Amino acid sequence: MPDLPLPQNVTFVGAGPGAAAHLTLAGFQALQTAEVVIHDRLVGPEILALIPANALRIDVGKQGFAPSTSQQVIDATLVAQALTGKRVIRLKGGDCGVFGRLDEEMDALQAAGLGFTILPGLTSATVAAAEIGQSLTRRGRNTALRIVTGHDIAGFADHDWAGIARTGEVTAVYMGKKSARFIQGRLLMHGAPAATPVSVVANVSRPDQQIIGTTLADLPAAVACATGPTVLLIGLAPRAAIHSLPQLQEAHA
Ligand SMILES: C[S@@+](CC[C@H](N)C(=O)[O-])C[C@H]1O[C@@H](n2cnc3c(N)ncnc32)[C@H](O)[C@@H]1O
Repeated sequence: MPDLPLPQNVTFVGAGPGAAAHLTLAGFQALQTAEVVIHDRLVGPEILALIPANALRIDVGKQGFAPSTSQQVIDATLVAQALTGKRVIRLKGGDCGVFGRLDEEMDALQAAGLGFTILPGLTSATVAAAEIGQSLTRRGRNTALRIVTGHDIAGFADHDWAGIARTGEVTAVYMGKKSARFIQGRLLMHGAPAATPVSVVANVSRPDQQIIGTTLADLPAAVACATGPTVLLIGLAPRAAIHSLPQLQEAHA
């Protein structure tokens, strides 16, 4: 007997890093028809404001002052809502497929016999690069782009440090605030010049966006000045509109 098509009432939507302008048209249209929206902590207020008033809204990022919702609870919530047959949107910050625990949620749906659609979003690194006036790849400079995490389930994440340290390479580090000193140490150990440019971009595309132009030498100090979700662009300096904090301007004077 041929497999019956899976019910497809769940749509994963990448919300982009914050601004409503960065939500895709497909994402916006999906959101307009939502009956249930399950969203993360990193979804910006501008995007949350687009959720229809009559849709059930479930915040799985944080509950009051309690710790973050566990992935098991998120999976179970998603499946339970999907089984109601309502149009469910699983709204994730940035792109759902970049450090978004998407696989666990797809697996949970599939195990329950449920299908889904994925609508990708703009990931923080691409918007951060645009905000600092740089491209992530450039002819003659870098032929590859790395997107890495600062930590994984084992602690500070290990990477191809020698590759990242090479002059001209560009690496976007997500979740890298706590590991900034570790990253700095590894890169210096693998021969990266202390003057390697780094852009620290916090709250990308939100009203409180911060752009801090720094170098590998000053990376931990720069990161300490960033508040909120932050992406590090190693190998890229802000082209223009640098809002270096006074402490850093003094450090570079
Ligand atoms: C769990 S990951 C999610 C990444 C997300 N799926 C994406 O594509 O941007 C969380 C990390 O993404 C980065 N991030 C997410 N939103 C951001 C924002 N608005 N500004 C700066 N960094 C952001 C930060 O490094 C943060 O620690």
